[in-house]
Amino acid sequence: MTHAHFINKDKQALERALKTITIIIEVNIVNWISRFSKQSVAIALSTFITSTAWAETIVITADRLVDVTNGNVIKNAAVVVDDNIITAAGAVASISLPTDAARIDLGDSTLMPGLMDMHVHLTSDATRHGYKRLEVSLPRAAITGVKHAKATLEAGFTTVRNVGAPGFADVALRDAINAGDVEGPRMFVAGPSLGVTGGHCDSNLLPYEYDNYSEGVADGPWEVRKTVRRNIKYGATVIKFCATGGVLSKGTKVGAQQYTFEEMKALIDEAHLRGLTVATHAHGTSGIKDAIKAGVDSVEHVSLLDDEAIALAKENGTYFSMDIYVTEYILGEGEKAGILEESLNKERIVGKTQRENFKKAVNAGVNMVFGSDAGVYPHGDNPKQFARMVKFGMTPMQAIQAATINPARLLKQEATLGSLDKGKFADIVAVPGNPMEDMSLMENVGFVMKDGSIVKQYAM
Ligand code: ARG
Repeated sequence: MTHAHFINKDKQALERALKTITIIIEVNIVNWISRFSKQSVAIALSTFITSTAWAETIVITADRLVDVTNGNVIKNAAVVVDDNIITAAGAVASISLPTDAARIDLGDSTLMPGLMDMHVHLTSDATRHGYKRLEVSLPRAAITGVKHAKATLEAGFTTVRNVGAPGFADVALRDAINAGDVEGPRMFVAGPSLGVTGGHCDSNLLPYEYDNYSEGVADGPWEVRKTVRRNIKYGATVIKFCATGGVLSKGTKVGAQQYTFEEMKALIDEAHLRGLTVATHAHGTSGIKDAIKAGVDSVEHVSLLDDEAIALAKENGTYFSMDIYVTEYILGEGEKAGILEESLNKERIVGKTQRENFKKAVNAGVNMVFGSDAGVYPHGDNPKQFARMVKFGMTPMQAIQAATINPARLLKQEATLGSLDKGKFADIVAVPGNPMEDMSLMENVGFVMKDGSIVKQYAM
């Protein structure tokens, strides 16, 4: 190790400490102050500031920790973080805690891995749908994405999979986050979604003479292969395509298959050849089944399921990402936001069936991941889905696993993400109280650490 390395390390530690202090001062205590006395907030802040100032190792303690790997809740727990890596986690009694480390005691709260949402559109604005979206330029969408990335991270989501963004705006956002220019979650990005001409992933709002189409449109096995290659060239790390019609697209039948099996097979094979996983939008039964048979890694929405589709998913280890909260936003706020009347009509049918089928898939033991479709509804509201996942059939533990260890496996990132285990990245969140007893507490994430840096810390 060189001298320069040490200086650099010290500088980084100082910068980190200063950043932490600044964040604490900036923190919006108002939201939380009703839960705690001013005095305890002040004590928590002052101890935290003095103890964090120079240390590189941080010990975080709390009354509970969710061990998603084993499906247990551990009482009186600690996580030890060295730089950006977890070096120990579990019951306080089972860990020899370093004595010279900074301490953060979160008291009556529950520690868990950073949350992961497998279906977001960070560059989409939930208040603009239908024709209102035509007013948004690509650069404008990218800038909006900066705000959405921060809101998502502060809601506790340290990793997202962005499944579709025009103009590779998601690639730009990911790169800006990775460069430290803006704050946001780790992003796995698809770039423009692939779809057939006139399908759910095309843009069908304008008449013929405008010659308007989405840049992910690709028809035929070789064209889809070429488009996969192009997306990879411009920075995609996952591939997304539309297998069936959808709710929010003009003129598509939600249950009707759009890509043929032959096209899906070519698309998925090409992506797998290049080491990328593939997500498909599919509401309709035949499209779901053909996509699974063609080897897709995850099916999104999965509304109109049958028993055979469930059996196929189990047989192939396919993940289902079912956005069962968004229907409430679409039917409640959608009209105001510009959602077309035909889409509202489609949603009235799809939303209810999807929730029933969610229960069937969970009971059958299909691999489930948390996917919200935030972007259709406001970013930062992602956690609202947790309470619905429990209401419609999951145990609280299953719902948390669906947003942590399962997505890490889907993304083939379980070596570094998805659980509070030694050697993984220090992506850690805490919610006040015990979410196992009340899943709506997931909507109040109070502590967020991403990659060893504290993003948010309310006094708990
Ligand atoms: N992006 C999806 C589509 O347009 C949203 C579906 C929302 N509805 C639902 N029940 N999940 O098809």
